[in-house]
Order: sequence, then structure tokens, then C-alpha cells
Amino acid sequence: MQQEHLFKVLVIGDLGVGKTSIIKRYVHQIFSQHYRATIGVDFALKVLQWDNETVIRLQLWDIAGQERYGNMTRVYYREALGALVVFDVTRASTFDAVLKWKDDLDTKVTLTHGRPVPAVLLANKSDQVFTPLPKMDAFCRDNGFVGWFPTSAKENTNIEVAARCLVENILTNEETAAPKDDPDLLILPGHNNTTKERARCLSCAKT
Ligand code: GTP
Ligand code: MG
Repeated sequence: MQQEHLFKVLVIGDLGVGKTSIIKRYVHQIFSQHYRATIGVDFALKVLQWDNETVIRLQLWDIAGQERYGNMTRVYYREALGALVVFDVTRASTFDAVLKWKDDLDTKVTLTHGRPVPAVLLANKSDQVFTPLPKMDAFCRDNGFVGWFPTSAKENTNIEVAARCLVENILTNEETAAPKDDPDLLILPGHNNTTKERARCLSCAKT
């Protein structure tokens, strides 16, 4: 029997880091160099055939970067089950802002058991510069990110694996929120993650 899930996912981060571009790449397989700032919020839907029994609908909320400086409304965050937090590897200030976005997220939404929603960190525009980021794993652990990925919306790098990392974490939370007797039910359906992908998906690497 087919199971269907609808997950609300926020895409947040400073102005111009590439949130809209990442979503357009992920959902429509397109990229444009042209920058048009998002106003308020946009929406996109990505449908994933997760496995033989499971269809996942990701409702992606593309939040305008300028919202953090304005009156960031709680409505955007309500009932979100996960977040992609994006920064631009070519602009250090956008990395500095990551923790502000994460704080905003954690103060405005929690899961039913009071735990923070899973967040994956995206180091976007990784096509532009090669800056090794050796401390990223530690940064993620210290600040409660479930994983991080160097991404490029331009070259279509790591966007799908990052989304998969987030979905795996959301699914784990869904299962623990409704505990079942059989502990085997907590094991996620088999994925063929490569070692490289798993290495960066910190929480997934534990499974
Ligand atoms: P706001 O809506 O203002 O918050 O911005 P945003 O985060 O949605 O950024 P957007 O996707 O509009 O991208 C901003 C600019 O960066 C655009 O000119 C994009 O073409 C460019 N861009 C986005 N992703 C990448 C990438 O991976 N590589 C390169 N080289 N440019 C990118
Ligand atoms: Mg945008």
C-alpha cells in the first residue's frame, strides 16, 4: 500500500545566497544567472518517490532573505518539519548570519516533543571558489545541524543528497513521534548512500 507524506520545509539564509536558485534547480532543473530578490515567500512542491511504498511531497517555503531584517513572521515557520539553511561561500557575512537564522528557526518552531526541527546547512556557490572548510563537521555538531553539503545550484551539485539527508531526519522524527512496539520500524528504508554522502550527513551516518 502506498503511504503519502506531506512535509513542510523552510529554505532560509541571507539575501542572494541562492535559496530560490537551489529550489528551481531541485524542482524544475533550471538555473538562471539573473538575480531577482524574493519578496515575502514563494512556494514550490517537489514530489519524491521515496521507495516502493512511500511518496513524499516536499512543500518548499522559499523565504526572502530580507525577511530577517524586517518583521519575520511566525506564520512562515509554523508546522515546518525541517529546514535548509543556506550561505554563500563567496561572502563570509552570509556564513556569520547562519547562526542567526538557526536561532530564529529554533525560537519560532519546535517539534511536538519540544525538540528542534532538523536543519541541514548548505555551503552554496561552491562552483565559484574552492575554500576547504575543515571545521564544518564540528560547527554542525556544536550548532545542531544534522549535516552540511557544499552545493551549487549552477552546476547541480549535492542538492538532491542534501534534501535526502533532511528527509531521512524528518522521517526518523515522524517515527519516533509515534512510537511503535517493533524497534525494527525505526530503521529507515534502505538507501544506497555513497560513503561520501554519508560522511557529510552526520546524523544519517549514525544509522
Ligand atoms: P533572496 O530571494 O533575495 O533572499 O535571494 P536568494 O537566496 O533566493 O538568491 P537567488 O537564488 O535569487 O540567487 C542570487 C544570485 O546568485 C543569482 O544571480 C543566482 O544566479 C546566483 N546563484 C545562485 N546559486 C548559485 C550557484 O550555485 N553558483 C553561482 N555561481 N551563482 C549562484
Ligand atoms: Mg529568493
